[in-house]
Amino acid sequence: MAEKTIAVLTSGGDAPGMNAAIRAVVRAGIANNMKVIGVRRGYNGLLENDVIDMDLRSVSDIIHKGGTLLYTARSEEYNSSEGVKKAAEFCRNLGISGLVVIGGDGSFRGARELSAEGIQVVGIPGTIDNDIACTEYTIGFDTAMNTAMEMVDKIRDTAQSHNRCSLVEVMGRRCGDVALKTGIAVGATAILVPEVPFNFERDVIAKMLKTQKTGKKHFIIIVAEGVGGIDYFTRRIQEATGIEARGTVLGHVQRGGSPTLRDRVMASNMGHRAVECLRDGIGNRIIAVQNGKVIDLDINEALNMKKTIDRDLYNVALEISI
Ligand code: F6P
Repeated sequence: MAEKTIAVLTSGGDAPGMNAAIRAVVRAGIANNMKVIGVRRGYNGLLENDVIDMDLRSVSDIIHKGGTLLYTARSEEYNSSEGVKKAAEFCRNLGISGLVVIGGDGSFRGARELSAEGIQVVGIPGTIDNDIACTEYTIGFDTAMNTAMEMVDKIRDTAQSHNRCSLVEVMGRRCGDVALKTGIAVGATAILVPEVPFNFERDVIAKMLKTQKTGKKHFIIIVAEGVGGIDYFTRRIQEATGIEARGTVLGHVQRGGSPTLRDRVMASNMGHRAVECLRDGIGNRIIAVQNGKVIDLDINEALNMKKTIDRDLYNVALEISI
């Protein structure tokens, strides 16, 4: 007989590695004598009784798969106090005392509300954006960056053949982390991120013309989604430099695919830690990576922190992209 019942859900945009996290929660839960319930389609599953009992084998063969076995959603109905009460009531009826929420900031706000209703909730950061302030790392970030890097490498082949400038928009919502690291990895001439103000004429056009004088013939410019304007920037480069320019928005390709080793290991470690918290009766926590270590911290503290971009790394990019 299981000592307690916990549940797990994925919420918000999916991210490669979410399956590895679900697997870790289920396996660690069962190993710690808990019953584990899978909630489908994010918080919607708690409102519409869309749940399944998980066992050891229900999470076999998923560690290497992108997407999420439990499906995901951004729930409208849950975002009301009635929705939260209904979800809490549902948990109580099923005997669910603890819930693991794998998702982003928005999902954690939902988790905090449910905690206030007496359900112990632990959040695991799962988003390709790496935009959660309390943690150095979010599940899916590594895979998304590697996908973006591979795509830009392909774009570079054609930019090089035609002596063109290729502008590539990468995802990240309001956060420039995917753009910054991808930009460094592909040797971009300029990286535009929402956190750092820029002057397009000076920081992109003049820089291109200057590097052209040293023999550079093709260019990669990375534009974070949070900056936007890729069509305008593409036209402007062509008009101001005479260099043929093409813009590509990478889009959802960055959210799919088999998770990298880093994402699988992080997800497994974080999933395991989340279950340890619930096993010890600790709720209202967010699992995070700080100084390279997996830790847990208070949800309010986590949500009050402000995300910043790594300015040192940004300056490295500036100095070597000449
Ligand atoms: O949060 C992940 C993310 O892919 C962001 O990078 C992007 O802004 C957003 O989700 C796209 O959302 P949707 O899948 O609803 O188009």
